[in-house]
Amino acid sequence: MDKLIVEGGHKLSGSINISGSKNASLPILAAALLTDEPVRISRVPDVSDTNYMLQILSQLGASVERSSGTVRIESPEGISSSASYEQVRKMRASICLLGPMMARMKRCTLPLPGGCVIGDRPVDLHVRAIQALGARVRVKGGNLVIDAPNGLVGTTVDMRGDSGPTVLGTDNLMMAAVLAEGTTVIESAAREPEVVDLANFLNKMGARIEGAGSRTITIHGVERLHGCEHTVIPDRIEAGTFMVAAAMVSDGLTLNRVWRPHMKAISDLLVECGHTVEFNEEGTTVYVAPAKNPRSGKILTNPYPGYPTDMQAQMTALFALTPGISVVKDTIFPQRFMHCSELKRMGANIKVDNGTAIITGVESLSGAPVMASDLRASAALVLAALAAEGTTEIHRLYHIDRGYEMLDEKLMSLGAKVSRVLDLDAVPLEES
Ligand code: UD1
Repeated sequence: MDKLIVEGGHKLSGSINISGSKNASLPILAAALLTDEPVRISRVPDVSDTNYMLQILSQLGASVERSSGTVRIESPEGISSSASYEQVRKMRASICLLGPMMARMKRCTLPLPGGCVIGDRPVDLHVRAIQALGARVRVKGGNLVIDAPNGLVGTTVDMRGDSGPTVLGTDNLMMAAVLAEGTTVIESAAREPEVVDLANFLNKMGARIEGAGSRTITIHGVERLHGCEHTVIPDRIEAGTFMVAAAMVSDGLTLNRVWRPHMKAISDLLVECGHTVEFNEEGTTVYVAPAKNPRSGKILTNPYPGYPTDMQAQMTALFALTPGISVVKDTIFPQRFMHCSELKRMGANIKVDNGTAIITGVESLSGAPVMASDLRASAALVLAALAAEGTTEIHRLYHIDRGYEMLDEKLMSLGAKVSRVLDLDAVPLEES
């Protein structure tokens, strides 16, 4: 297990390429199970979550080849309908195997994901959706045991939960419905760009999906899907994280391979706080530079196109060093504030109460040993460490390796002083 040692206070400059989206890649990789023909997917980031997904696919019997960001998957007849707990427990997103396994095999046994540090993470909406298509669901020995002896039949399903639409739930229902009999209508569908990317991939495989990106998605079931080639969209959360780094501790950074329409909520907030955000005409490159007199801000996380919950921790790190009082409320994962206690150990002034963080900006942070608790919390700690005075040691770096491709190399190329070393005292924490 590794830790990251960050020598703070070195201004970043230069440019980097943003990787393909981790959250788009995971369901797209799972969707490869929907055909026995080969699929080729490019710009799959080399992070541990995509590696876990590929390991699961290969354990199910798919053949998987990976070289320089392109993955080729072929899932022949006879693949297994049962995933192992050992693999699935490493990554909650493995729930997105449910849809493709049910579509392809009409039955599956999938270990139930447990809770994690960012909240309870229920799967009731996934279960309700597959039941609506005619499947029977039982919980046995910690597994979801699902079958549909009479096949899956299209219907209208409302995916809204108490905290809004579910992203992977929408993905699962879309993947289950592509080979179902008749038409499925998803009401209150998630509108995230990653859902649209999955729909585009499925349509390239021969699916008939309309309306992805809106609140209503219609899927006309087809007999079979075929192989295809696809390039994954840019990772808007990785891009957002580097945009915040640029606002916190840079002389200006240029990020290539972004997509402006996906970045609106994040860039609008940075601009409101006084930072410079300039896209090129095509919207594929962005230049971000820090404000001379930054202003505090307010975040209310919301489903897309609202402000993403996956970007609140990083912005909290920026607010920790912004004069005035900033407020961050997470309506999607109200318990997602583990990073705040660690930021406080670095000198931040933050009070967390009832799903809301109130941050009073301080003049400087100081390096300290800190503990990463989940993927985006770790990113916030790295950002704080880059801006802090002195040296910070970030333990449990495996959280960041789940979702940021070559983070330390990218930071070093921008002039950061970071090094990854083996953490001999580390104690693993459950996946989030
Ligand atoms: C996805 C993202 C994750 C992001 C989250 C919210 C991937 C791989 N992960 O996770 O990075 O933080 O969207 O944007 O794409 N809920 C229920 N019942 C369910 C499912 C969800 O109540 O069956 C609730 C959740 O507790 C949460 C809300 O719905 O409050 C949204 O969660 P959801 O969109 O499902 O998150 P994921 O798709 O798991």
